[in-house]
Amino acid sequence: MALLLVLVRALIVVVAAAVVSSSGLPVPGYDGLAIGFYHETCPQAEELVLAEMREIVREDKTLAPALLRFMLHDCFVRGCDASIMLKSRKMMAERDALLSCSLRGYEQIERIKAKLEEACPMTVSCADIIVMAARDAVFLSNGPRYQVETGRRDGKVSCDIDAYNDLPPPGSNIVDLKIYFSVKNLGWKDLVVLSGSHTIGRAQCASFAGDRLYNYSGEGKQDPSLNTTYAPELRKACVPGDPFDETYVEMDPGSPYTFDLSYYRDVYSKRGLFLSDQALLDDRWTREYVERMASADSTEEYFRDYSKAMTNMGRIEVLTGDNGEIRKVCGAYVD
Ligand code: HEM
Repeated sequence: MALLLVLVRALIVVVAAAVVSSSGLPVPGYDGLAIGFYHETCPQAEELVLAEMREIVREDKTLAPALLRFMLHDCFVRGCDASIMLKSRKMMAERDALLSCSLRGYEQIERIKAKLEEACPMTVSCADIIVMAARDAVFLSNGPRYQVETGRRDGKVSCDIDAYNDLPPPGSNIVDLKIYFSVKNLGWKDLVVLSGSHTIGRAQCASFAGDRLYNYSGEGKQDPSLNTTYAPELRKACVPGDPFDETYVEMDPGSPYTFDLSYYRDVYSKRGLFLSDQALLDDRWTREYVERMASADSTEEYFRDYSKAMTNMGRIEVLTGDNGEIRKVCGAYVD
């Protein structure tokens, strides 16, 4: 009887979602989120974000990967609540943490927010703008365009210590990576799929030269597992004595601004840039996924997985309903 009730309830939710979806009204999602949350309060929200993102990426293509990474740094630390935008007078905020020092996109999120404030004042949260901007960054890099749940509200606290605790460093091994993800309710599949975001963008030599080129395991040598033709290219780019925080290397050199499967081909052939990328070969399940994607003929399965994994990441510790606030300016000062 109980099972029957559960089945009937599930059926009602599915039918309701289908009816609501075809009518264009919001589709209830996870924990107070909904697809099309702003349908009535700001129907043009998603269009406005995409239009602004088009302009931003046209002006500077390196901002697409930057804004994708922005979502990781927001969501992994205190949840997807735009706390990465906050500035603190009293203590160091998340944005001041060393792991976020090369993060870009603050002005662009503010720029999109200003457009939305003109159209629908005090309605669309900064947290949702970050998630929509990341989605559009992927789409504008030839990746999938998936539907995002919205309805997040903005947090009021930001503290650098949370970033040190929750953001996986690039030198992480597979055991640590799985822990960093699992405490955010993300599994091995989210890990291997979302790591594929490194198919676009660039990294400072400071993020990998120590681990991979000059001081692997603290032993003053090169990572023996690094591809032997790739290693000299990296050593040429990251010359000791040069400022490692000012020299950048493309993470997927063949197609650094195209969202494709070449990240997996790179990792498979030991040309992944970070230890954390290469570590995906050290677990049976993530390795199998890397191998399958490295030899896939089409992006279809990956794009489907990516849309799902990004949705999962967008659900981390969200504030909804009466929690949090909607801010006028995303980068406000907090005490
Ligand atoms: C699995 C653990 C991860 C680690 C250890 C990691 C680490 C890093 C590091 C160190 C950089 C280079 C920063 C710099 O030197 O400027 C980077 C870049 C990047 N990461 Fe990750 N990341 C991880 C997962 C993710 C996820 C889940 C996403 C997105 C959903 C992502 C998206 C990006 C993008 C797009 C860039 C390029 C940024 C740019 O070009 O400005 N990363 N990541």
